[in-house]
Amino acid sequence: MQINSVSNILLRWYDNNKRDLPIRLTKDPYKIWISEIMLQQTQMKTAIPYYIRWIDKFPTLESVAKSKSDRILKLWEGLGYYRRCLNFHKASKIVIDKYDGRIPSDYESFKALPGVGEYTVGAVLSIAFGVALPAIDGNVNRVMSRFNGIKNLTKRNKDILYNCIVSLFNKSDPGDINQALMEIGALLCVPKNPLCNKCPLSNNCKAFKNGNPELYPTKIKRLPKPHFTVVTAIIWRKEKFYIQKRSQKKMLGGLWEFPGGKVEKGENLKNALIREIEEECHFTPDIIKKATSIVHAYSHFSITMHCYHCREKEKKILDQSSSNWITVNEISKYSFPKANHKIFNFMNKNDWNI
Ligand code: ADE
Repeated sequence: MQINSVSNILLRWYDNNKRDLPIRLTKDPYKIWISEIMLQQTQMKTAIPYYIRWIDKFPTLESVAKSKSDRILKLWEGLGYYRRCLNFHKASKIVIDKYDGRIPSDYESFKALPGVGEYTVGAVLSIAFGVALPAIDGNVNRVMSRFNGIKNLTKRNKDILYNCIVSLFNKSDPGDINQALMEIGALLCVPKNPLCNKCPLSNNCKAFKNGNPELYPTKIKRLPKPHFTVVTAIIWRKEKFYIQKRSQKKMLGGLWEFPGGKVEKGENLKNALIREIEEECHFTPDIIKKATSIVHAYSHFSITMHCYHCREKEKKILDQSSSNWITVNEISKYSFPKANHKIFNFMNKNDWNI
């Protein structure tokens, strides 16, 4: 089979079968860029509502660059991997200052921006500017591994798959070839029970010919996610409670949270809470009663969070720019991690009173 005709098969299939998506209504590099960042580690159906809200609030890259990070994090709230959002904010300012607002279309300059990895360069430059660069995410790796009958994704084999995609470009629109492969990976060439009978590549697919495409590529064994027990405090000062902003350097950086932390081995929950509040807020809380406990799985670990109503003994907590006292009605103005929202939801359904 000529590589030329594989390209044509791909493009024809893509033209007739691509999903009708708002991200496909534009070639604006800013919109392509933010959509590709949102789609990393995130399913299309989850990302799309975020994309629509984002473009509504920030129609241009300049509007992002001018915004405060709290405002953009609020729009990102719930999408996870918050570093993506903060990096995009940083990158937007660099494009405005250094490139006069024009997103660079050359590999080196674009790749040097914060949060832009090999996949993002390929996706944005190929879709928005027609640059002949592959955009290889997990889905595309799986499609190419099966198509070429290559099981182990070693560095050398990944280079072979990369070159195979480059050969597919062959005068076609690289953005469409990349997106056709992504679309096949998302809709047909899925990890379990792939829909080979509907796949335009099956006639030329080595894994299909070998009879068991599910075995491609070889799965990498992941270590089990660690689980932590965490205690947090809702510290009340009249009708307001205390929240603090996580450091930008930490995971979930820039989001707001209740103070607290991990329980150490052999420590009881209340002692752990007192220790954590003394460390973080430099005062000893009065623990009133348990509010609730929730379990939440993050990408790399999971937690059980035990949350306690507390009172400030006297006005002892220092007010800083990274902390605030808010009422229940003000929760929606701030962005919080999902685990905190589980606590809020419980309290909204039950009782905020202590
Ligand atoms: N996943 C990430 N980017 C995509 C795109 N442009 N089309 C389809 N799936 C995607």
